[in-house]
Amino acid sequence: MDVKELIAEARLALDTAYAPYSEYDVGAALSTDDGAVYTGCNIENANYSNSLHAEEVALGSAVRDGHRTFEAIAVSSAARDGVTPCGMCRQTLAEFCDEEFEIHCDTGDDVRTYTLGTLLPDTISADNLDDRSMEETR
Ligand code: THU
Ligand code: ZN
Repeated sequence: MDVKELIAEARLALDTAYAPYSEYDVGAALSTDDGAVYTGCNIENANYSNSLHAEEVALGSAVRDGHRTFEAIAVSSAARDGVTPCGMCRQTLAEFCDEEFEIHCDTGDDVRTYTLGTLLPDTISADNLDDRSMEETR
């Protein structure tokens, strides 16, 4: 999937953002290995902490439909400020995506692209837990 198309999908997802508290709308578009695209928007809550992030909503919808392998994600805010996924969303993506996974961030005129490995180096993954269970059986 073309980067520009994915950014366009993320911008469309802004339309359904529900952010009455922060008034900061975010949209995300996640492409799968087989060419599907899942979008998400932030969905806030009056208790603040239950707020869902756009990337979580996109990933959750894709996994709900049986997808486990992803190509890239585009993220856009209404401010077109090049917002990157927050720490929590980086970790959520790392459950399914490797270090080469590309994250395209909308700056309005341009796109800033990062890899997940750059934004979240040396993170915990299933490998760590595998090592632990090896340790326990010794
Ligand atoms: N937000 C996202 O949707 N994704 C991110 O990773 C950054 C933050 C949302 C959460 C909240 O609704 C608003 O942006 C302000 O933080
Ligand atoms: Zn987040």
